[in-house]
Amino acid sequence: MALLEMTNVVSFYGLIQVLRGVSLRVENGEIVCLLGSNGAGKSTTMKTILGIVRPREGAISFKGELIDRLPTSAVVSRGISTVPESRRIFPRLSVEENLEIGAYVRGVGLHRLRPQLDHVYSLFPRLKERRRQAGGTLSGGEQQMLAIGRALMVQPKLVLMDEPSMGLSPVLVDQIFEIIQSINQGGTSILLVEQNARMALSIAGRGYVMQTGRIVAEGTGQELLHSEEIRTAYLGE
Ligand SMILES: Nc1ncnc2c1ncn2[C@@H]1O[C@H](COP(=O)(O)OP(=O)(O)OP(=O)(O)O)[C@@H](O)[C@H]1O
Ligand SMILES: [Mg+2]
Repeated sequence: MALLEMTNVVSFYGLIQVLRGVSLRVENGEIVCLLGSNGAGKSTTMKTILGIVRPREGAISFKGELIDRLPTSAVVSRGISTVPESRRIFPRLSVEENLEIGAYVRGVGLHRLRPQLDHVYSLFPRLKERRRQAGGTLSGGEQQMLAIGRALMVQPKLVLMDEPSMGLSPVLVDQIFEIIQSINQGGTSILLVEQNARMALSIAGRGYVMQTGRIVAEGTGQELLHSEEIRTAYLGE
């Protein structure tokens, strides 16, 4: 049984259809990457998994349970968290308060809070140094670390990451990719949307390519990296 399974999912924004029958799966322990050009529907796929956008047709199951009718809070409490495209840091709250909020959402008890904070601080020593600083005054890279750290506070089974390397310098991009791999090695599955297709495919076990609301290709990271079509369309070759 796949950890996450989407079957023929169709989603709309009002009258505009965005997802036109998306089927994909994430197995336990996998990093799966989702590629596609701007507007293809990658973020909408993530919002649909989270219940922010309601699918009009199709099914989404997580650990064998249908989740496509659940409110977002119930989806999160089953073990799916997100690093959204927009990061959504609370600018006036401190780094630590931003992290704590991630845990409150899932009702993580106070006794679990400290160990989770320590875990996040061990992945991101920079956040520990800055734990009293207002979230809004962090640099772009630090805010991205905070968004990832916050997603981990709920001890998710699956994290949906929407362009975690966006706007970061090459050194930070490398760091973020290393952190994604170490989160994965800790047993968390990851669905990764990235413009940085080459790096994403190099760490992903499998990947999907999306075009105007449909999955048009799928394969192992290596297969996609070496596919002629993918190389021209997404790797700029
Ligand atoms: N709230 C919304 N209302 C109406 N249309 C929307 C809304 N959000 C997204 N769309 C449209 O849905 C389509 C898919 O958008 P989506 O954000 O899923 O694309 P994406 O693949 O994540 O693109 P990008 O790589 O640019 O982030 C786009 O045409 C977009 O304009
Ligand atoms: Mg997007």
